[in-house]
Parts: sequence; structure tokens; C-alpha cells
Amino acid sequence: MGNITNGSIRFYNGDQIPVELHKVRMVQKLNLKPINERLEAIQIGGYNTFLLNTEDIFLDMLTDSGTNAMSDNQVSSMMRADDAYSGSQSYYRMEEALRDVFGKHYILPAHQGRAAENIISKVFIKEGDIIPTNYHFTTTKAHMELNGGKVLEIFGDEALRIKSDHPFKGNIDLNKLDRIITEYGADRIPFIRMEASTNLIGGQPFSMANMRDVKEVADRHGIMMVLDASLIGENALFIKQREEEFGSHTIKDILIGMCDMADLVYFSSRKVTSTRGGGLCTDNKEIYMKLRDLIPLYEGFLTYGGMSVREIEAMAVGLYETTDETVINQSPSFIKYAVDELDKSGIPVVTPAGALGCHVDAMGFLPHVRQEEYPAGALAAAMFIISGCRGMERGTISSERDENGDDILADMELLRLAFPRRVFTLSQTMFLIDRIKWLYANRELVGGLKFVEEPPVLRFFLGRLDAVSDWPQKLAEKFKEDFGDSL
Ligand code: F0G
Repeated sequence: MGNITNGSIRFYNGDQIPVELHKVRMVQKLNLKPINERLEAIQIGGYNTFLLNTEDIFLDMLTDSGTNAMSDNQVSSMMRADDAYSGSQSYYRMEEALRDVFGKHYILPAHQGRAAENIISKVFIKEGDIIPTNYHFTTTKAHMELNGGKVLEIFGDEALRIKSDHPFKGNIDLNKLDRIITEYGADRIPFIRMEASTNLIGGQPFSMANMRDVKEVADRHGIMMVLDASLIGENALFIKQREEEFGSHTIKDILIGMCDMADLVYFSSRKVTSTRGGGLCTDNKEIYMKLRDLIPLYEGFLTYGGMSVREIEAMAVGLYETTDETVINQSPSFIKYAVDELDKSGIPVVTPAGALGCHVDAMGFLPHVRQEEYPAGALAAAMFIISGCRGMERGTISSERDENGDDILADMELLRLAFPRRVFTLSQTMFLIDRIKWLYANRELVGGLKFVEEPPVLRFFLGRLDAVSDWPQKLAEKFKEDFGDSL
């Protein structure tokens, strides 16, 4: 295979170009609507990209969750799904795959990642507990807080630096971990949570060495380790590429090595297996028994857990595909291409390129938009208006308010442009890069946003906003001046 496993090939002119190691056998037609219609669509959607209709979207880069392309083997496996309320053959095939790929014996299904978080939080978190983590995820934090817990992020100095060449920005800082344990006492810490390919700080991985060190501390204090494996494939790939000790290991070995260090592994299979579901696994019967009885209550019987058996079949196949480097490197190699191209042009993006998406630094892009006027949300809206590409705000809108009703300003204001696995082509990626460059040249035209309707929990999903001025119209006018009839 040569070096094709890193997802790119060298062109005659010396360029490293990501290459699609798959062929397209089923397609979905896309629309690229004129800018006036895009402007209208984002106004109707309350300047919240979650509220857009895909009919109005050209490249849907909102998320990779449930939107990765499935393989021919996954789709065909769905045909043999065994519909049964209990004892479905499909479930046993998935159980087998999870035992094989994650190396854990006891398996519980959940309809998606946050459902697993709900169950874990209900069982293990009590009022006043502290949960140390490399970084929170939105739904994770909400469930933990709902059960009386407090999330403490103990990342290293490099984690929030936009431009960095640190290979493992998702690492836990061991000094901070020690300090927390001393300050609160191990009794108040139900578990330490490590999130693979840390989502909200730009898809940044942790190293195997770091997880080993954290586990050593956890063991010393008798604290449980929980691994969020939603983006574990990519984290394993980065370990192979960036951590010398693992350069010659297989992805399967690395996955097993990571899961071995966790007492409890949970995941959103909407990401990790390119299907729609989730689950939990452990080798510890006591942990399993504590979690088990909540599954029929919140999810569904133990052999489907709220998932369609067709998805369960495809999940088993998808799990094995997660051990294939040419599958899991597709998204990171395209992300790297986009990040490198933008970085070369001086556009602020999170480096090094990570998993999940290309993350544009909205505070660097729009320094004139105050954080209280949501620069990442404004950038997401502007990007949609000028390109039809839908990204996701990952900043203060995705945060919440404090007891006084003030915004808790996010550590980072990011526009995440997700690269779902094996969905977009190189020319689409080049279009995206081109439009970001145009927007950067015209960034002065972009203004802020304000809430007009704000839900109290996870407001970013359903909240509605408005522009603070007529900047969206002015931006659209400039686009028409520069591009004429072109979309
Ligand atoms: N953990 C991580 C690290 C995630 O990225 C997600 C979802 C979840 C848990 C929750 O899983 O959606 O299946 O309930 N991330 C999606 C995203 C929503 O767009 O990044 P879920």
C-alpha cells in the first residue's frame, strides 16, 4: 500500500493530494441556490444553521453525526436484519463485533451517544460530584449537571491555542488532575472522562501515553475511567501517525489498547460506525449490572436499545470498518488538506488538523465582533449566505448562561465545517476553501447576532437569533458585485 494509508498521494508537481479510496455508487442530488434565496433561508432559520432545511443547503457540513457515507457492505447487511423485540440475531452480531473490536465483554445498547450519557450520569453521579475530563461535550455536560455533577476541564496549555503543532492537544494535564483529587477527594469523583478526538476544541486527540498516565493516577485512587469513544477511530489513527511507539501497530491493536484502559466505554455510533445508534461496554460485571436495568426503562429492550435492527446490523459491519485505515483516514486527510490551504493563506484555523472537521477561529476571523455578539454564530451564518455551505457554531451560543443570566463566554469561538466520512469530493472541498478565502477578504462586512428566542437548555439547537444590523444584506450585495451570475 505504500503511504496511501495516510490518505494522500504525491502528484507529479510534488503536491500531496487527498485521494478518494472509494467509488461513488449511489448519489444524492444537491442544490446550489442563488444568494438571495440563501439569505432568505437563514433569516427564516433564525440565523441558526440547525434550523435550515437541507433543500436550501449545498454542502452540509453541520456534522458527521449520522451523515457519514455507509459502505456497500453495511447497506447490504441491513437486508438480513432480524426483527424481534428480544433475542434478535442482529443484536448478537453487533455484540460479537463490539467484543471483538473494543475488547469488552458486557454490552448494552442505547439509541445514541447522549442516551448512554444519561444512563451513566443517572447511575454514577450524585449531587456535589466532580467529573474531571479532557474537555466537555455539550450533551455530556448537560446530563452530568442535570444529575448534580460539576464538570472540570483539565486540559494542557496547548489545548486552546489556535495555532499549534502539538500532536495531542486532547491530553489531560496530570498536575491539574492531582490537584483536583487532593482538593475534592477521590470520593467525590465518580469517574474521570476521556473523550477521544476531543470534539469542541477542534477534534484534537490524546496520546496513549497520556491515557496510561491518567489511568495510573485513577487506579492509585480507585477512580473509574470512562472513555467517550464516539471519535475513537480517528484518535487511534492519530496515535499511529503521531506517537512513535505505535507507528507499526494496527488500528485494531490501538483500539483495544485504548479500551483496555477504560472501565467503561460508551459511544455515539452515529459517528464511529457511520450508523444511527450508540452503546456502552465494560468488562466489569458490577458496572454492567448497575447500568443494565435502566436500558429497558429509557431505551428499549436489551437487544435493541431504541435502535432499528437494520442499523444494528450495519453497526456491526461499520465497527470492523473502523479498524481499516483507508476508511478512517478519509475524513482527516480531507480536513488536513483544507486546514493546510487556509493556514497557508493566513486564515485562522485550528492546527494541527484534527478529526471531524475544519475548525475556523471566529475570534481571529472577526476580531471586530464582540464575543457577546457571537462571532462563531455570525461566521456560520455568513458562510451559509455566501456559499450554501452549512457549518456549526461551536462557541458561546453552544455554551449557556450563569446564575445572573450572563453568557458564559466560551473558551473558543469556532466555526466547525464537518467532513463526514466519504461524503464530499476534492472539488467540493476546493469550493469551500475558495469561499472561505473570499469571506476572509470581506470579513469587515460581517457583524454580530443577538438572541430573539432562547431555550434554557442546549439553546444552540433551537434558539433563534437576528443580525444586529443589515450586515447580511450588505454582504450579499458585495457577493453579487464580485461573482455576478455565478452561484
Ligand atoms: N460524545 C461526543 C464526543 C460527541 O461528539 C457526541 C455527538 C456525543 C457524545 C453525543 O452523541 O449525538 O449520538 O447523542 N456529537 C455530534 C456532533 C452531535 O455534531 O458533534 P449523540
